Amino acid sequence: MHAPPIPLVARRPAASLAGAVRVSGEKSISHRALMFGALAIGETRITGLLEGEDVLRTAAAMRALGADIVQDGATWRVAGRGVGGLIEPADILDMGNSGTAARLLTGMLASHDLFAVITGDASLRGRPMRRVTDPLEACGARFTSRAGGRLPLAIEGARDALPIECQLPVASAQVKSALLLAGLNARGQTRIEEPTPTRDHSENMLRHFGADLTVETMGAGRVITLQGQPDLRARDVIVPGDPSSAAFPLVAALLVPGSAVTVLGVGLNPLRAGLFQALREMGADLTVANRRVEGGEPVGDLTARHGALTGIDVSLDRAPSMIDEYPILAIAAAFAHGTTRLRGPGELRVKESDRMAATAAILAAAGVRVQIEGDDLLIHGDGRVAGGCTAATLMDHRLAMSVLVLGLAADAPVAVDAAAFIDTDFPGFAVLMRNLGADLS
Ligand code: S3P
Repeated sequence: MHAPPIPLVARRPAASLAGAVRVSGEKSISHRALMFGALAIGETRITGLLEGEDVLRTAAAMRALGADIVQDGATWRVAGRGVGGLIEPADILDMGNSGTAARLLTGMLASHDLFAVITGDASLRGRPMRRVTDPLEACGARFTSRAGGRLPLAIEGARDALPIECQLPVASAQVKSALLLAGLNARGQTRIEEPTPTRDHSENMLRHFGADLTVETMGAGRVITLQGQPDLRARDVIVPGDPSSAAFPLVAALLVPGSAVTVLGVGLNPLRAGLFQALREMGADLTVANRRVEGGEPVGDLTARHGALTGIDVSLDRAPSMIDEYPILAIAAAFAHGTTRLRGPGELRVKESDRMAATAAILAAAGVRVQIEGDDLLIHGDGRVAGGCTAATLMDHRLAMSVLVLGLAADAPVAVDAAAFIDTDFPGFAVLMRNLGADLS
């Protein structure tokens, strides 16, 4: 039996938000560290791993495929099986709410001679998988799924996988990473063209684990080449703070009068930093200190101070660098003066929820003037938001956190119908926000 959903209400706090905090580990890097660790020879030690449900599902799947994974205090130890060494799982692999876990795993399994079935929760079972299965068929794998390419998905991995050469059908790091994972156990060279660069954590980490991988620029895009069947060697991985999680306390500080909040040790990979650039263009007082490189990724301490924001026009080519941040950017835009146009992030319709429709509906319910024009979302702000509404979170953690940030700065409280999904991505979100002075009850 499921527990009843727990609603959460955000109110404008009596005082400003203040303090310095660390957010949980970067989710994309956490999934990849467990997966590449499972394919490496030796023991990979991971510190800062995000211990949210999405990543724990990946850990469980890697165990089911034969990797030995133990949590040892703050360190996760992964004894890998080597490239090509995964064993057939004895049961269905349930990836919960995580599209990244499901899609990357599909790539990994496609080039192993085994049978596996992947499923997920109601949200994940509604999300498209053909974007990975169509290009992965070229390696010799066979897939059977529900209508529309939806999970559950049965995979018959290739016996002797062929390398794939393709252009990405969508600007998606998940698809790119699935193809690279398949290419690891294929003979020869996998070659992927991405017309628009997407987050490159897989490329960085593959190099870190000793793979022979090159990246060349091609026009505005990139070509990634990977030599198949390398000996991946276990490495230590330090996971930085997740910029997508840091976005919530930082935007809250921009919106709540008098606030100043620092988030320490945030990953600042340029292919992830689109939100911070957009906020600065809106006039946000957002500064970076202590820039450094940790585990092959740029990291810094980000400070946001409250101030007035103005509307901007966000072009489509920036979508991959902030694809998960549109809901929270839309909240910032609602409090800005003037119109913000978020151009063409059609991909928003196939995330944990249809984030385009859901964000527009939430803003409208909170009294903000919004329009959807084709694939563009327009938000007309006048510096304040009425609030006074309850939002359906649609099993989508980022939507829930964005709505709560809205409630912290709106004239009247704003509630989310269920807060439990936040834990899939950002465990401890409510406690962290309360420690900064947020009124969440
Ligand atoms: C991710 C890629 C993005 C992003 C997701 C994580 C990844 O998805 O939305 O949260 O770790 O590769 P797409 O590749 O579908 O854009």
